[in-house]
Amino acid sequence: MWLALRGMEVHAVDISPVAIELARRLAEEHEVAHRIRFEVWDLDDGLPAGPSVDLLVCHMFREPRLYPAMVERIVPGGALAVAGLSEIGGEPGSFRAGRGELRQAFSALRVVAEGEGNGVTWFFGRKAA
Ligand SMILES: C[S@@+](CC[C@H](N)C(=O)[O-])C[C@H]1O[C@@H](n2cnc3c(N)ncnc32)[C@H](O)[C@@H]1O
Repeated sequence: MWLALRGMEVHAVDISPVAIELARRLAEEHEVAHRIRFEVWDLDDGLPAGPSVDLLVCHMFREPRLYPAMVERIVPGGALAVAGLSEIGGEPGSFRAGRGELRQAFSALRVVAEGEGNGVTWFFGRKAA
């Protein structure tokens, strides 16, 4: 929604038809649904097919097997924004990134901002142009 409200063309993915339907309704209310391609997709099967993107956002979903494909999907000069749960300052668990996980996974990108603590982690990086 945030990206579409700022004029970007968005491909939005979640495995839950309920989540996708709620997002579609919200987008319609804000008159940006025409800028968003909604897709019910199981990310256990990898990223859905699509062109390279200027910005890839992964918010509160962890699947380390996708990390290489996420980097690959970004155009030269493009950006990656990831935020999720962390074991640092939080409990261990498969939904939580370990210490330094995002920095290591996305070491091919230039770090713009990153952090981990209080049970959360985030990374924003740029691919070389
Ligand atoms: C913590 S919620 C975050 C939702 C949303 N990204 C946000 O930040 O508000 C985790 C989301 O991951 C989705 N999810 C879980 N397993 C998935 C999978 N295998 N493929 C795609 N989405 C999945 C869930 O349906 C849920 O909407």
